[in-house]
Amino acid sequence: MDVPDEPISWRCQAAALAPGQTATFRLERNGKVVEGFVVNHAGRHHAWVNRCPHAGTPLDLWPNEFCTEDGRHLVCATHGAIFAPDTGVCLEGPCPGARLERLPIERDGEALVISCPT
Ligand code: FES
Repeated sequence: MDVPDEPISWRCQAAALAPGQTATFRLERNGKVVEGFVVNHAGRHHAWVNRCPHAGTPLDLWPNEFCTEDGRHLVCATHGAIFAPDTGVCLEGPCPGARLERLPIERDGEALVISCPT
């Protein structure tokens, strides 16, 4: 069996992500690669698995493009589902009430450390 060459946690400096900005990363969970992203929403960071609960595609058709034009929400590029950046709940689109999968964020000084529970 191939073992993914991905880390079990990902870190970045919190200050590197200004409000409205996002960053993507890849982690390993149970021998599989999990793609994720982190968003700074109004000064608070939230990390999500990059998988739409509607049809399972990544949200970003264009790499690292997760936000609506007004910057208030997350959007899935496949069918246009709109998500709250802080709760991950789908507010509009084909899967209302469904949620993105949250990834835990810990602080290590000025760094964000994101992991992927098994
Ligand atoms: S796959 Fe995201 S809205 Fe359909």
